Amino acid sequence: MNSVKVSPAKDFSLTINTIAPDKSISHRSAMFSMLAEGTSEIRNFLRAEDTLNTLEIVKNLGATVEDDGEVIKITSTGIKESFEVLDCGNSGTGMRLFCGFLSSANGHFILTGDKYLRSRPMKRVTSPLLSIGAKLDGRDDGDLAPLSIRGASLKSFDYESKIASAQVKSAMILAALRADGICTYTEPELSRDHTERMLKGMGADLQVKGLKTTIIPMKKLLEPLIITVPADPSSAFFFAVAAAITPHSHIVLKGVTFNPTRIEAFKALERMGANISYNETDNKYEPIGDITVTYAPLKAITVESNISWLIDELPALSIAFACAEGISIVKNAKELRVKESDRIATVVNGLSACGIDTTEYEDGYTVKGGILNSSCIDSDGDHRIAMSFIIAGLRCGMQVSDLDCINTSFPNFFDLMKEITTLNFKV
Ligand code: S3P
Repeated sequence: MNSVKVSPAKDFSLTINTIAPDKSISHRSAMFSMLAEGTSEIRNFLRAEDTLNTLEIVKNLGATVEDDGEVIKITSTGIKESFEVLDCGNSGTGMRLFCGFLSSANGHFILTGDKYLRSRPMKRVTSPLLSIGAKLDGRDDGDLAPLSIRGASLKSFDYESKIASAQVKSAMILAALRADGICTYTEPELSRDHTERMLKGMGADLQVKGLKTTIIPMKKLLEPLIITVPADPSSAFFFAVAAAITPHSHIVLKGVTFNPTRIEAFKALERMGANISYNETDNKYEPIGDITVTYAPLKAITVESNISWLIDELPALSIAFACAEGISIVKNAKELRVKESDRIATVVNGLSACGIDTTEYEDGYTVKGGILNSSCIDSDGDHRIAMSFIIAGLRCGMQVSDLDCINTSFPNFFDLMKEITTLNFKV
């Protein structure tokens, strides 16, 4: 499946209870199970390339994984040196979290990934880990994978991060769990906090006060994780935008995490004028519920704070910008340049190809709402770019190529899209 032609959609009214399970929580649930005494049970694990790679690595590190198709049971007797090169595929989260996770393990480990991941910066985790005694290295002075890790004794630390990154924070928290004393990690803005919530739920001694997390190293193994992974707000958001840009449409997205660090893009869409309501149905580790989005004419907004809370959704939100009245502005978002693609460039170039006026800045861009025209867009191997421009196709028709990347996060995306419009695939 190399490209798809998307037809414009008529109005629709849909309830979806099969949005892809959350990627961040799935990665963590597989990895953190190795810190527990006893068997962890994970329901609704994301069966997509990124997270299945993490599960495979967990197996390669010696955990027993039983999978009946519904519940994944993980039992570990400690991290074992692996005979295999550990392949994180396309996943920055997998690679960066494993750096922290393995830096105190007994043995030598090699982490690699696909050609995109091997070009993404790793110094943001290797530098702070090296400063506390970890032994890591990689190409370009430790910045690029493949990375090698030799487990070492780690010193306690007080680390002040310059970037609001949950991956860096999680790598350091995982390292802190086995450091030789109490550690603190402070970030400039709160990034997603699944690691803190899940580890605390497993009995780890972690205190979060504002932007500072204090971590007391583990004295014993943690309690097993018993978790049902909620739907991924970043995946749900594509369908929120679909309803928000298609007149007279309405969508209900079931079982999504309402973690405040994850639903900022829905709040942004609400500020643009879409009608959105939230109905909480559960709360274990994370608040969870249903999100309803109803079409209304959209107006431009500025997005400049809490960027890490909507960083993954900015490509899809930009499609809504293109359909809104006025000029939307994104600032303080230079992190977009080091995602699965340079997302400032891929969004701006894609929208320009569709006839939308844009301006590109080093740390953001502007989008002037207008008439979206059908175009041919290459995803550049980035799943969120592929899905965003497919959603744009609901408005005006679109051809999008290089689609395999969608399997990294949302394997049933096209099954759901088929409920809204006609898709013609070409190999
Ligand atoms: C993630 C953190 C974010 C996000 C990524 C998933 C995580 O990255 O963009 O998709 O699960 O920790 P950064 O930590 O680089 O901001």
